[in-house]
Amino acid sequence: MSPSNSQAVSRKLEEASVWVNAGLQILTGSLDSQSILPKLASYSLNAGGKRLRPFLVRAACEALGGDPDRAVHAACAVEMIHTYSLIHDDLPAMDNDDLRRGLPTLHVKYDEEQALLTGDLLLAEAFREILRTPLGPSRIAVMASRLASAAGPAFLVGGQYMDMYHPDRAGMEWIGRMIRGKTAAMIRVSLELGVLSSCSGDDLLDQISVLGDKLGFLFQLTDDILDVSGSTEEMGKRVSKDAEQDKSNPVSMMGLEKADALADKMARDIETELSALRGDWSSVSDLALYLPHRRS
Ligand code: IPE
Ligand code: IPE
Ligand code: MG
Ligand code: MG
Ligand code: MG
Repeated sequence: MSPSNSQAVSRKLEEASVWVNAGLQILTGSLDSQSILPKLASYSLNAGGKRLRPFLVRAACEALGGDPDRAVHAACAVEMIHTYSLIHDDLPAMDNDDLRRGLPTLHVKYDEEQALLTGDLLLAEAFREILRTPLGPSRIAVMASRLASAAGPAFLVGGQYMDMYHPDRAGMEWIGRMIRGKTAAMIRVSLELGVLSSCSGDDLLDQISVLGDKLGFLFQLTDDILDVSGSTEEMGKRVSKDAEQDKSNPVSMMGLEKADALADKMARDIETELSALRGDWSSVSDLALYLPHRRS
């Protein structure tokens, strides 16, 4: 990937951040609550995430000529569920992390009870938010249902369960299923929601789902690579955690060199497959090609 392509990806990620942040700000400002939990939700939401999933919602909508205004509520909803999953993932009962997005994790800054409840708040409000999508009720129902499936026991929650209760000798097939659940599903559904909100790509949904799974695997693969070769400063979270906690992942299975080569190959395959689809998928392709080189 050339430096200019990587600059273009950074610029588009930044654009997507500004776009989704405006939606998130309106939303968190309007939360009705008996507590300070909305303030805690803002702390975690605004801590400086990359907004990769909102970027994908927007890019998929635009790839098919859709109006991004129709996709923004879905993008906010995805980011809220992602943020809730990070808050819970960092709790002492799970990965026990004290740093996230460059700031103290929510349970360290406040306490575990409030962190747990803030995650619950974000999950519930994410569904209210996607229902605000300015499209017909049957399309909104499909979108909300796909999001619920990706966030539920078959995917995000199920994958996190596998990550917590991994067998002593996990094979690559098991690891693939775990990643498909804990990480890939939210990346896949981001692309699907972008396609659905464009209202002009329903025939592409199956192909996009397969590609989204691959992109999600690639993303987690690069997260696992950076857990070994990245720095806490660049990542904004602790590194070397997986080895410390004896977690199986593709890097622990195949070693860093092969994992790097796999990431490069997957990025090129995704680019090839996207180029065969109707629409202009270059933003998503560029992101895939950038992932093996990312440092944060
Ligand atoms: C972290 O996701 C969790 C994984 C799925 C590896 P991101 O790396 O997208 O986290 P933020 O949103 O930028 O903080
Ligand atoms: C990410 O896996 C899983 C989810 C957030 C659902 P990790 O546990 O590897 O993510 P990081 O490394 O803590 O961000
Ligand atoms: Mg984890
Ligand atoms: Mg973790
Ligand atoms: Mg990780």
